[in-house]
Amino acid sequence: MSGRVAARSGSSNERPARQINVILRNPEPPVVSPSVPDTELQAAAKAIPQQGIFTEIQKELDQLIGLHHIKDLMYEIYALLQITGMRSEVGLLSDPQVYHMVFKGNPGTGKTTVARIVAKMFQRMGVLSKGHLVEVERADLVGEYIGHTAQKTRDLVKKALGGILFIDEAYSLARGGEKDFGKEAIDTLVKAMEDQKNQFILILAGYSDEMDFFLQCNPGMPSRFPIVIDFPDYTVDQLIQISEGMAKERDYILMPQAILKLKQHLLREKCEGEYAFSNARYVRNVIERSIRSQAVRLLMQYSGGSPGKLELMTLRQEDLKLDLKEERRP
Ligand SMILES: Nc1ncnc2c1ncn2[C@@H]1O[C@H](COP(=O)(O)OP(=O)(O)O)[C@@H](O)[C@H]1O
Ligand SMILES: [Mg+2]
Repeated sequence: MSGRVAARSGSSNERPARQINVILRNPEPPVVSPSVPDTELQAAAKAIPQQGIFTEIQKELDQLIGLHHIKDLMYEIYALLQITGMRSEVGLLSDPQVYHMVFKGNPGTGKTTVARIVAKMFQRMGVLSKGHLVEVERADLVGEYIGHTAQKTRDLVKKALGGILFIDEAYSLARGGEKDFGKEAIDTLVKAMEDQKNQFILILAGYSDEMDFFLQCNPGMPSRFPIVIDFPDYTVDQLIQISEGMAKERDYILMPQAILKLKQHLLREKCEGEYAFSNARYVRNVIERSIRSQAVRLLMQYSGGSPGKLELMTLRQEDLKLDLKEERRP
């Protein structure tokens, strides 16, 4: 991937995910002119079974609400990997691409979830040998004395080889300026990106403004991270869909009155605006807490016997306890 891919949501040229579906389920046979040599035919034929790889990845992506720009970008990367493979089979230039990325967005917008799917896709496509995700933050990288940070960082890079090293709140590495050990971690990471080229992918994640500032302050950085992805806050409707999905995953159903109550609450929470709202993580906490409240309610209501199956599945308005005081940053 060359250049900077700043995928944004809501762009007018968004391709609906369904369109990808259609293409994959009914792959066009390659149009081959009779003059194309056999080797090219073989290369194209070999590549076709790989369509299955994306179908699997797409299934996982489809479970995520919204994020259309990211789903499109995943398909773009998949297509590029496929074509690069075919090009190399017929002797065309196919330099390995740089896939280090920056994920920008508030908490709970799906950054870690997407990173896991990316790792899996790269493993299936043969770019990464293991496809695991090592998720770290400043405290894991930064040590207490000179040399300690470099060692800790190198150890984590080693652990991530064959997979993805995901640094959450990466901007905090630049927090203390030149004298801070965070600088040593950055320098070690940059060196590892050169020395262990193509052996791991580095993803830096964090709040948008902070990540922009971080990249600005480290002039060598932007060119090392050609893929920059925005993770926008979810709309209230998307958060409701996410809640319903989370309930369903756990074999629960939200009653319409419960959904209405949650919707009104989310509208208020999102409007407060003073703090970064933790999006899908917030609603996950709400759902998990509601499940506990429902359990208590049912035990009280049915002290003698067992509630029916439907009752065991139903989350009612009164089960939603919405005084969650989550930790928010100022
Ligand atoms: N688009 C989405 N659809 C469904 N669930 C989501 C979506 N985005 C995030 N989640 C869920 O929300 C929770 C927090 O997501 P996570 O990836 O950890 O966010 P981040 O890393 O940005 O803080 C996880 O349980 C994840 O599965
Ligand atoms: Mg995360």
